[in-house]
Amino acid sequence: MDYSDKIIELFENPKNVGELEDADVTVQEGDPTCGDTIQLSLKFENDVIKDAKFLSFGCASNIATASQLTEMIKNKTIDEARGITVQDVEEEVGGLPSVKMHCAVLATNALEKALQKALDEYEERKSEK
Ligand code: FES
Repeated sequence: MDYSDKIIELFENPKNVGELEDADVTVQEGDPTCGDTIQLSLKFENDVIKDAKFLSFGCASNIATASQLTEMIKNKTIDEARGITVQDVEEEVGGLPSVKMHCAVLATNALEKALQKALDEYEERKSEK
């Protein structure tokens, strides 16, 4: 498999691995085709993502793209983070073999799920007031 230097570097030294103890939102997402899963936790300050951590039970490409994604979303608003596409992540890691694109999709799907959960919880709190 032809991996970019950045993927190899991020796989060997991933950033933001773990669980945020004071997370506002934590989600799990799975890829039914390969069976791998990822957990993503986010900490917000108003609508800005102040911290992000992930646990990957997947392959090297998933670890690398999730690591890159958590770096890309820090200090971004929910709207800005929602604008990040799987192609943006792929570009940042120096490209992905086409059979590994779904590993980056798994990471971005987890982000989308986490942001939706954050928005749902915000709406819920607003309606309780
Ligand atoms: S093969 Fe499953 S996440 Fe990469």
